[in-house]
Amino acid sequence: MSPTTRDTGRFDALTADAGILFGADYNPEQWPREVWVDDVALMREAGVNLVTVGVFSWAMIEPEPGAREFGWLDDVLGLLHEAGIGVDLATPTASPPPWLGVRHPETLPVDRDGVRLIAGSRNQFTPASRVYREAALAVTGDLAARYAGHPAVRMWHVGNEFGQLDYGDEAAREFRAWLRARYGTIEALGEAWGTAFWSQRYSDFDEILPPRRMPYLVNPAQSVDFRRYSSDQLRAVFREQRDAIRAAGAAQPITTNFMGVFAHADYRSWADDVDVIADDQYPDQASPTAPADIALVQDLMRSLGGGRPWLLMEQAVSATSWRPHNLPKSPARARLDSLQAVARGADGICFFQWRQSRSGAERFHSALVPHAGADTDVFRGVVRQGADLQRLRPVVGARVQADAAIVFDWASWWASSESAAPTDRLDTVAEITRWHRALWRRGIAVDVVAPTADLTGYRLVLAPHSYVIEQDAAAALTAAVTAGADLVVGPFSGVADANGAVYAERSPALLREVVGVSGEQWCALPDPSVPLVWTDGAEPAAGVSVGTASILGEQLRSEGAHVLARYGAGPLQGRPAITRHPYAAGTAWYLGAVVDDAVLDDVIGRAAASIDRPLAGYDLLPDGLEVVRRGEALFLLNHGDPRRGGEAVEVTVPAGLVDLLTDEVSGEVVAIAPDDVKVLIERQDR
Ligand code: GAL
Repeated sequence: MSPTTRDTGRFDALTADAGILFGADYNPEQWPREVWVDDVALMREAGVNLVTVGVFSWAMIEPEPGAREFGWLDDVLGLLHEAGIGVDLATPTASPPPWLGVRHPETLPVDRDGVRLIAGSRNQFTPASRVYREAALAVTGDLAARYAGHPAVRMWHVGNEFGQLDYGDEAAREFRAWLRARYGTIEALGEAWGTAFWSQRYSDFDEILPPRRMPYLVNPAQSVDFRRYSSDQLRAVFREQRDAIRAAGAAQPITTNFMGVFAHADYRSWADDVDVIADDQYPDQASPTAPADIALVQDLMRSLGGGRPWLLMEQAVSATSWRPHNLPKSPARARLDSLQAVARGADGICFFQWRQSRSGAERFHSALVPHAGADTDVFRGVVRQGADLQRLRPVVGARVQADAAIVFDWASWWASSESAAPTDRLDTVAEITRWHRALWRRGIAVDVVAPTADLTGYRLVLAPHSYVIEQDAAAALTAAVTAGADLVVGPFSGVADANGAVYAERSPALLREVVGVSGEQWCALPDPSVPLVWTDGAEPAAGVSVGTASILGEQLRSEGAHVLARYGAGPLQGRPAITRHPYAAGTAWYLGAVVDDAVLDDVIGRAAASIDRPLAGYDLLPDGLEVVRRGEALFLLNHGDPRRGGEAVEVTVPAGLVDLLTDEVSGEVVAIAPDDVKVLIERQDR
């Protein structure tokens, strides 16, 4: 197997041996050695089986250029190994020592305004810098050579949360090389970027710069290409460190931690480079939609790995400290969050961090062992989680089967985020999250896929905001409908090609035939909203609103589609807003406006009518209840927060199922307390 190909079997072998992984980032360099001994004892008490070590240890390992101080790390790994605790060993390359930037200022990143960022925080490197890359590879190579065969090391963790942007001269050089490789000739670039506009014609690649501060609006194609380049450049840094680890003989899985729906890295292009998808998730405790929102991220992570188990690499056990206002989680909620990730496909549950720092920028960020020590509700909750996860061993490796797919891709998101559009209020991620919520409320499992994926196995495909649609995506979406799926397309879709050039035809370009409706222009809607009048079946009295549209509508005409709702007032009064079009064996629904939550839920509910639910008889689940089937296990998670008046919910299930968490045998009616979870499975030998 080539070192550049992911090998998912490495992670499967680890979890087959260790069960569900449970642990945290462990930063022993912040503590005296006596504390290490206590740490290891407490880890054992909690059932921790994996800790990520060394993420920010470069200055400890290499206190001056070329030096190597591995003795302390030998001791830490030795202690952990004696206690049977596995190590996810990190390359320390996310945070170079201050001396690197002092000696080599070109390793420091430069922001859009030309400001060079300095040491004193973290992440002060430019991915394009050869000096940085060589220094990072040298320390990675030595680390890997020393520990590749260490029995404590069960996994490798490259860098941390790759996400740096750099607009400096190092980036300019690499961006040009990237553009040369993409376009070949400056004429081809000029065509793709539309440089005839505003006299932007370049005669040589060397004239091009990253999209630094400019007098007025930036060329959107240049901006999107810079995003592509930035993601690729970070990926190159990841890959070369990964390859150095493999070249040193390491056989463990190698990964890095993603950041959910993150704007500066196209994780779909990274997915084949990691042996397991790993993600950091910090849902906001203050948001009532957090459980549904994070479910989308978890579905994305599972889907990036082709449905295979993924790893929750970081989360907070209580409060974060980087928000302006940081609500803590109760121990019950922390447990619920962890079990939600398992339900949606995670085979590992880890946290940031093991022991709460006394100093530094994250001194108020929660940790498994808080400042107040182990005699705390937080730590008792951690011990409980460890025990729960051991009980869930039967779900290791099991899959979530989805009949529905939601389309999301970075290039389209990027292109749609460029300024100077009909509205800057249409947010791709917000829309995808809202559409996904309609499925979450029904317990309908969903994969998050590229529009170019093979969609023919799905019964429902949602395309909430696919701004960029090219021939391959149009063919895939059409094939899904042809095969019998319901396809629901949202507004401002099929607008542009991959360069962000707008199609000079009626919208949604390339999908007109399948949706049976087309638009002449997009139309920002007046605040706060305009009424929609349902026209399907029994018509409400003229002018009676059944919901609203806001932000953006489209001046549509039906070309064969049945009109379900029209605008009741406003600039588009009387025109179609929501349509349905039978096509081949399937049906295409079109939402020509950003409709309110209730209307959206209604349309998606209709389109999803034929999909089997994990709980028979429930079209909509009781408020706050999340239901997921993973393999044979039925997860029932009650997100009704008791601090917000959440209550127990009762549902009917097949009698005689066993709760893996308690061994209780359920009757037909199961009550789930707020913040509690049941994992029901048919009785079997465990
Ligand atoms: C993550 C990061 C960790 C820690 C954590 C705090 O973004 O990887 O090192 O900073 O956030 O929430």
